[in-house]
Amino acid sequence: MKILVTGSAGMLARDLIPVLKESNEVMPLSKKEMDITQKDAVIKNIKSNAPDIVINCAAYTNVDTAEEESDRAFQVNGIGVQNVAVACAEVQIPLCHVSTDYVFDGRKNKPYTPFDAANPLNIYGESKLAGEKYIQWIMNKFYIVRTSGLYGSGRNNFVMTILKLAKERRAVKVITDQICSPTSTLNLSTGIKKLIESGSFGIYHITDDSGDGISWFDYAREIVSMAGIRADIIPATSEEFPSTSRRPPAKRPAYSVLDTEITRLAVNYTPEKREVALKKFLSRRGISNE
Ligand SMILES: NC(=O)c1ccc[n+]([C@@H]2O[C@H](COP(=O)([O-])OP(=O)(O)OC[C@H]3O[C@@H](n4cnc5c(N)ncnc54)[C@H](OP(=O)(O)O)[C@@H]3O)[C@@H](O)[C@H]2O)c1
Repeated sequence: MKILVTGSAGMLARDLIPVLKESNEVMPLSKKEMDITQKDAVIKNIKSNAPDIVINCAAYTNVDTAEEESDRAFQVNGIGVQNVAVACAEVQIPLCHVSTDYVFDGRKNKPYTPFDAANPLNIYGESKLAGEKYIQWIMNKFYIVRTSGLYGSGRNNFVMTILKLAKERRAVKVITDQICSPTSTLNLSTGIKKLIESGSFGIYHITDDSGDGISWFDYAREIVSMAGIRADIIPATSEEFPSTSRRPPAKRPAYSVLDTEITRLAVNYTPEKREVALKKFLSRRGISNE
Protein backbone atom coordinates (compact mmCIF):
# COMPACT_ATOMS: atom_id res chain seq x y z
CA MET A 1 0.00 0.00 0.00
CA LYS A 2 0.97 3.62 -0.55
CA ILE A 3 0.35 5.39 2.76
CA LEU A 4 0.39 9.15 3.31
CA VAL A 5 1.11 10.09 6.94
CA THR A 6 0.24 13.61 8.13
CA GLY A 7 1.89 15.28 11.16
CA SER A 8 4.96 13.17 10.40
CA ALA A 9 7.27 14.96 12.85
CA GLY A 10 5.07 14.11 15.86
CA MET A 11 5.78 11.50 18.55
CA LEU A 12 3.46 8.80 17.23
CA ALA A 13 4.31 9.35 13.56
CA ARG A 14 8.03 8.99 14.21
CA ASP A 15 7.47 5.42 15.46
CA LEU A 16 4.63 4.64 13.06
CA ILE A 17 6.50 5.46 9.84
CA PRO A 18 9.26 2.80 10.21
CA VAL A 19 6.67 0.18 11.26
CA LEU A 20 4.57 0.91 8.16
CA LYS A 21 7.69 0.91 5.97
CA GLU A 22 8.30 -2.77 6.79
CA SER A 23 5.76 -3.67 4.09
CA ASN A 24 4.43 -0.45 2.54
CA GLU A 25 5.45 2.66 0.65
CA VAL A 26 5.15 5.61 3.03
CA MET A 27 4.84 9.31 2.23
CA PRO A 28 5.41 11.32 5.40
CA LEU A 29 4.23 14.95 5.39
CA SER A 30 5.10 17.25 8.31
CA LYS A 31 3.13 20.37 9.27
CA LYS A 32 5.61 22.41 7.21
CA GLU A 33 4.93 20.24 4.16
CA MET A 34 1.15 20.03 4.61
CA ASP A 35 -0.79 22.09 7.13
CA ILE A 36 -4.10 20.24 7.51
CA THR A 37 -5.93 23.50 8.24
CA GLN A 38 -5.25 24.59 4.62
CA LYS A 39 -8.02 22.87 2.66
CA ASP A 40 -6.71 23.55 -0.86
CA ALA A 41 -3.22 22.37 0.03
CA VAL A 42 -4.62 19.20 1.62
CA ILE A 43 -6.70 18.35 -1.45
CA LYS A 44 -3.80 19.13 -3.81
CA ASN A 45 -1.32 17.03 -1.81
CA ILE A 46 -3.60 14.04 -1.48
CA LYS A 47 -4.51 14.16 -5.18
CA SER A 48 -0.93 14.53 -6.39
CA ASN A 49 0.56 11.87 -4.09
CA ALA A 50 -2.28 9.44 -4.90
CA PRO A 51 -1.98 7.29 -1.75
CA ASP A 52 -4.14 4.19 -1.09
CA ILE A 53 -4.86 5.46 2.43
CA VAL A 54 -4.11 8.48 4.64
CA ILE A 55 -3.17 8.15 8.32
CA ASN A 56 -3.77 11.37 10.18
CA CYS A 57 -1.27 11.87 13.01
CA ALA A 58 -1.53 15.67 12.82
CA ALA A 59 -3.16 17.18 15.87
CA TYR A 60 -3.19 20.00 18.37
CA THR A 61 -2.21 17.99 21.46
CA ASN A 62 -1.60 20.40 24.34
CA VAL A 63 -4.56 19.65 26.61
CA ASP A 64 -3.96 22.61 28.94
CA THR A 65 -3.26 25.38 26.42
CA ALA A 66 -6.30 24.23 24.39
CA GLU A 67 -8.47 25.79 27.12
CA GLU A 68 -7.11 29.22 26.16
CA GLU A 69 -6.64 28.51 22.45
CA SER A 70 -9.91 26.82 21.68
CA ASP A 71 -10.11 28.31 18.15
CA ARG A 72 -6.71 26.84 17.30
CA ALA A 73 -7.60 23.45 18.81
CA PHE A 74 -10.85 23.27 16.79
CA GLN A 75 -9.11 24.59 13.67
CA VAL A 76 -6.64 21.68 13.72
CA ASN A 77 -8.54 18.84 15.45
CA GLY A 78 -11.95 19.68 13.95
CA ILE A 79 -11.68 21.59 10.66
CA GLY A 80 -8.25 20.18 9.80
CA VAL A 81 -9.62 16.65 10.10
CA GLN A 82 -12.67 17.69 8.06
CA ASN A 83 -10.28 18.87 5.30
CA VAL A 84 -8.44 15.55 5.29
CA ALA A 85 -11.74 13.62 5.26
CA VAL A 86 -13.11 15.70 2.35
CA ALA A 87 -9.91 15.14 0.34
CA CYS A 88 -9.92 11.38 1.00
CA ALA A 89 -13.61 11.13 0.11
CA GLU A 90 -12.97 13.03 -3.13
CA VAL A 91 -10.38 10.47 -4.28
CA GLN A 92 -12.28 7.59 -2.66
CA ILE A 93 -9.61 6.34 -0.30
CA PRO A 94 -10.03 5.47 3.39
CA LEU A 95 -8.73 7.60 6.25
CA CYS A 96 -7.24 6.26 9.46
CA HIS A 97 -7.48 8.89 12.18
CA VAL A 98 -6.00 8.89 15.69
CA SER A 99 -8.21 10.08 18.54
CA THR A 100 -8.21 10.05 22.31
CA ASP A 101 -9.60 8.64 25.57
CA TYR A 102 -10.37 12.27 26.49
CA VAL A 103 -13.58 12.12 24.41
CA PHE A 104 -15.03 10.36 27.50
CA ASP A 105 -16.07 11.98 30.79
CA GLY A 106 -14.67 9.23 33.05
CA ARG A 107 -17.88 8.62 34.98
CA LYS A 108 -18.29 5.02 33.78
CA ASN A 109 -15.55 3.67 36.06
CA LYS A 110 -15.19 0.64 33.81
CA PRO A 111 -13.19 0.43 30.57
CA TYR A 112 -14.87 2.37 27.75
CA THR A 113 -15.88 0.46 24.62
CA PRO A 114 -16.12 2.10 21.17
CA PHE A 115 -19.93 1.95 21.62
CA ASP A 116 -20.00 4.12 24.76
CA ALA A 117 -21.25 7.68 24.45
CA ALA A 118 -18.62 10.39 24.31
CA ASN A 119 -18.91 13.43 26.58
CA PRO A 120 -15.63 15.34 26.76
CA LEU A 121 -14.72 17.42 29.81
CA ASN A 122 -12.23 19.76 28.16
CA ILE A 123 -11.68 21.73 24.94
CA TYR A 124 -9.06 19.29 23.63
CA GLY A 125 -11.53 16.38 24.02
CA GLU A 126 -14.31 18.42 22.39
CA SER A 127 -12.11 19.33 19.45
CA LYS A 128 -11.00 15.70 18.98
CA LEU A 129 -14.64 14.58 19.10
CA ALA A 130 -15.45 17.19 16.42
CA GLY A 131 -12.82 15.56 14.17
CA GLU A 132 -14.32 12.10 14.77
CA LYS A 133 -17.78 13.41 13.87
CA TYR A 134 -16.67 15.09 10.65
CA ILE A 135 -15.13 11.82 9.51
CA GLN A 136 -18.36 9.92 10.22
CA TRP A 137 -20.47 12.59 8.46
CA ILE A 138 -18.24 12.71 5.38
CA MET A 139 -16.85 9.21 4.85
CA ASN A 140 -18.01 5.62 4.50
CA LYS A 141 -14.63 3.97 4.87
CA PHE A 142 -12.60 5.05 7.87
CA TYR A 143 -10.74 3.81 10.91
CA ILE A 144 -10.91 5.95 14.03
CA VAL A 145 -8.35 4.73 16.57
CA ARG A 146 -8.70 6.02 20.12
CA THR A 147 -5.67 5.64 22.37
CA SER A 148 -4.38 6.82 25.73
CA GLY A 149 -1.27 8.08 27.56
CA LEU A 150 1.21 7.76 24.69
CA TYR A 151 4.94 7.52 25.24
CA GLY A 152 7.58 7.06 22.56
CA SER A 153 10.32 8.93 20.78
CA GLY A 154 11.41 12.31 22.14
CA ARG A 155 11.33 13.62 25.69
CA ASN A 156 7.86 15.10 25.76
CA ASN A 157 5.93 12.25 27.38
CA PHE A 158 5.05 11.04 30.88
CA VAL A 159 7.74 8.33 31.10
CA MET A 160 10.60 10.61 30.06
CA THR A 161 9.28 13.46 32.24
CA ILE A 162 9.12 11.23 35.35
CA LEU A 163 12.63 9.89 34.68
CA LYS A 164 13.97 13.44 34.33
CA LEU A 165 12.20 14.80 37.42
CA ALA A 166 13.11 11.76 39.53
CA LYS A 167 16.80 12.24 38.70
CA GLU A 168 16.69 16.00 39.29
CA ARG A 169 14.52 16.22 42.38
CA ARG A 170 14.51 12.82 44.11
CA ALA A 171 10.90 13.57 45.20
CA VAL A 172 8.12 14.00 42.65
CA LYS A 173 4.43 14.68 43.25
CA VAL A 174 2.13 12.62 40.99
CA ILE A 175 -1.65 12.43 40.90
CA THR A 176 -3.52 9.43 42.29
CA ASP A 177 -7.02 10.28 41.05
CA GLN A 178 -6.75 9.76 37.30
CA ILE A 179 -6.78 6.20 36.02
CA CYS A 180 -5.73 5.45 32.45
CA SER A 181 -4.07 2.87 30.21
CA PRO A 182 -0.61 4.10 29.11
CA THR A 183 0.47 3.03 25.64
CA SER A 184 3.76 2.64 23.82
CA THR A 185 3.70 4.37 20.43
CA LEU A 186 5.53 1.38 18.99
CA ASN A 187 2.72 -0.97 20.06
CA LEU A 188 0.08 1.47 18.83
CA SER A 189 1.90 1.58 15.48
CA THR A 190 1.75 -2.21 15.19
CA GLY A 191 -1.98 -2.10 16.01
CA ILE A 192 -2.64 0.63 13.42
CA LYS A 193 -0.74 -1.35 10.77
CA LYS A 194 -2.81 -4.45 11.51
CA LEU A 195 -6.01 -2.43 11.43
CA ILE A 196 -5.42 -0.71 8.09
CA GLU A 197 -4.46 -4.02 6.50
CA SER A 198 -7.75 -5.56 7.69
CA GLY A 199 -10.34 -3.54 5.76
CA SER A 200 -12.53 -3.76 8.90
CA PHE A 201 -13.60 -0.14 9.04
CA GLY A 202 -14.96 1.44 12.23
CA ILE A 203 -14.05 2.93 15.59
CA TYR A 204 -11.40 1.04 17.61
CA HIS A 205 -9.58 1.35 20.90
CA ILE A 206 -5.87 0.49 20.98
CA THR A 207 -3.85 0.77 24.20
CA ASP A 208 -1.40 -1.39 26.11
CA ASP A 209 -2.95 -3.78 28.64
CA SER A 210 -3.31 -2.28 32.11
CA GLY A 211 -6.30 -4.43 33.08
CA ASP A 212 -8.79 -2.08 34.72
CA GLY A 213 -6.23 0.72 34.57
CA ILE A 214 -3.46 2.34 36.58
CA SER A 215 -3.18 5.75 38.25
CA TRP A 216 -0.45 8.12 37.09
CA PHE A 217 0.94 7.81 40.65
CA ASP A 218 1.28 4.01 40.51
CA TYR A 219 2.62 4.24 36.98
CA ALA A 220 5.28 6.75 38.06
CA ARG A 221 6.33 4.35 40.86
CA GLU A 222 6.58 1.55 38.31
CA ILE A 223 8.74 3.72 36.02
CA VAL A 224 11.29 4.74 38.67
CA SER A 225 11.42 1.22 40.10
CA MET A 226 12.05 -0.33 36.67
CA ALA A 227 14.64 2.33 35.89
CA GLY A 228 16.39 1.70 39.22
CA ILE A 229 16.15 5.35 40.29
CA ARG A 230 15.86 6.09 44.01
CA ALA A 231 13.22 8.78 44.20
CA ASP A 232 10.14 9.39 46.33
CA ILE A 233 6.95 9.48 44.33
CA ILE A 234 4.55 11.51 46.44
CA PRO A 235 0.77 11.06 46.07
CA ALA A 236 -1.26 14.15 45.20
CA THR A 237 -4.82 14.81 44.07
CA SER A 238 -5.56 16.72 40.84
CA GLU A 239 -6.91 19.57 43.02
CA GLU A 240 -3.70 20.05 44.98
CA PHE A 241 -1.43 19.41 42.02
CA PRO A 242 0.70 22.47 41.34
CA SER A 243 -0.13 24.05 38.00
CA THR A 244 2.83 24.70 35.74
CA SER A 245 1.05 27.39 33.72
CA ARG A 246 -0.63 30.68 34.62
CA ARG A 247 -4.02 29.01 34.72
CA PRO A 248 -5.25 25.82 36.38
CA PRO A 249 -4.83 22.70 34.21
CA ALA A 250 -7.74 21.53 32.03
CA LYS A 251 -10.23 19.12 33.62
CA ARG A 252 -9.43 15.50 32.82
CA PRO A 253 -11.55 12.36 33.14
CA ALA A 254 -10.95 10.54 36.45
CA TYR A 255 -11.19 7.21 34.61
CA SER A 256 -10.35 6.86 30.92
CA VAL A 257 -9.31 3.24 30.44
CA LEU A 258 -10.21 1.99 26.96
CA ASP A 259 -11.63 -1.47 26.34
CA THR A 260 -9.70 -3.09 23.48
CA GLU A 261 -11.76 -6.28 23.18
CA ILE A 262 -13.40 -5.33 19.85
CA THR A 263 -9.97 -4.66 18.34
CA ARG A 264 -8.91 -8.18 19.34
CA LEU A 265 -12.06 -9.71 17.86
CA ALA A 266 -11.97 -7.69 14.62
CA VAL A 267 -8.28 -7.76 13.76
CA ASN A 268 -6.71 -10.22 16.22
CA TYR A 269 -4.68 -7.49 17.91
CA THR A 270 -3.86 -8.47 21.50
CA PRO A 271 -2.36 -5.60 23.51
CA GLU A 272 0.96 -6.12 25.21
CA LYS A 273 1.05 -5.89 29.02
CA ARG A 274 1.94 -2.36 30.15
CA GLU A 275 4.86 -3.58 32.29
CA VAL A 276 6.38 -5.55 29.39
CA ALA A 277 6.04 -2.60 26.99
CA LEU A 278 7.61 -0.23 29.54
CA LYS A 279 10.51 -2.59 30.21
CA LYS A 280 11.24 -2.85 26.47
CA PHE A 281 11.03 0.95 26.09
CA LEU A 282 13.50 1.53 28.93
CA SER A 283 15.89 -1.13 27.70
CA ARG A 284 15.86 0.36 24.16
CA ARG A 285 17.15 3.50 25.89
CA GLY A 286 19.72 1.60 27.92
CA ILE A 287 17.83 2.23 31.19
CA SER A 288 17.26 -0.64 33.62
CA ASN A 289 17.53 -1.55 37.30
CA GLU A 290 19.50 -4.70 36.58
N1 LIG B 1 0.19 12.00 23.41
C1 LIG B 1 -0.77 11.35 24.02
O1 LIG B 1 -0.66 10.98 25.21
C2 LIG B 1 -2.05 11.02 23.29
C3 LIG B 1 -3.06 10.35 23.99
C4 LIG B 1 -4.23 10.02 23.29
C5 LIG B 1 -4.36 10.36 21.94
N2 LIG B 1 -3.36 11.03 21.32
C6 LIG B 1 -3.54 11.36 19.91
O2 LIG B 1 -2.51 10.71 19.18
C7 LIG B 1 -2.18 11.47 18.02
C8 LIG B 1 -0.68 11.66 17.94
O3 LIG B 1 -0.26 12.36 19.09
P1 LIG B 1 1.28 12.70 19.39
O4 LIG B 1 1.46 12.47 20.84
O5 LIG B 1 2.15 12.05 18.39
O6 LIG B 1 1.23 14.27 19.16
P2 LIG B 1 2.39 15.28 18.74
O7 LIG B 1 3.72 14.73 19.12
O8 LIG B 1 1.98 16.61 19.27
O9 LIG B 1 2.29 15.26 17.16
C9 LIG B 1 1.32 15.95 16.45
C10 LIG B 1 1.97 16.49 15.20
O10 LIG B 1 0.98 17.20 14.45
C11 LIG B 1 1.59 18.40 13.99
N3 LIG B 1 0.57 19.40 13.69
C12 LIG B 1 -0.03 20.29 14.52
N4 LIG B 1 -0.86 21.08 13.82
C13 LIG B 1 -0.80 20.68 12.53
C14 LIG B 1 -1.41 21.11 11.34
N5 LIG B 1 -2.26 22.15 11.33
N6 LIG B 1 -1.12 20.46 10.17
C15 LIG B 1 -0.24 19.43 10.17
N7 LIG B 1 0.39 18.99 11.27
C16 LIG B 1 0.10 19.61 12.43
C17 LIG B 1 2.50 18.82 15.12
O11 LIG B 1 3.44 19.77 14.68
P3 LIG B 1 3.95 20.91 15.71
O12 LIG B 1 4.49 20.17 16.92
O13 LIG B 1 4.97 21.63 14.92
O14 LIG B 1 2.75 21.74 16.06
C18 LIG B 1 3.11 17.49 15.50
O15 LIG B 1 4.23 17.21 14.68
C19 LIG B 1 -2.97 12.78 18.13
O16 LIG B 1 -4.12 12.67 17.34
C20 LIG B 1 -3.38 12.83 19.58
O17 LIG B 1 -4.58 13.55 19.75
C21 LIG B 1 -2.21 11.36 21.95
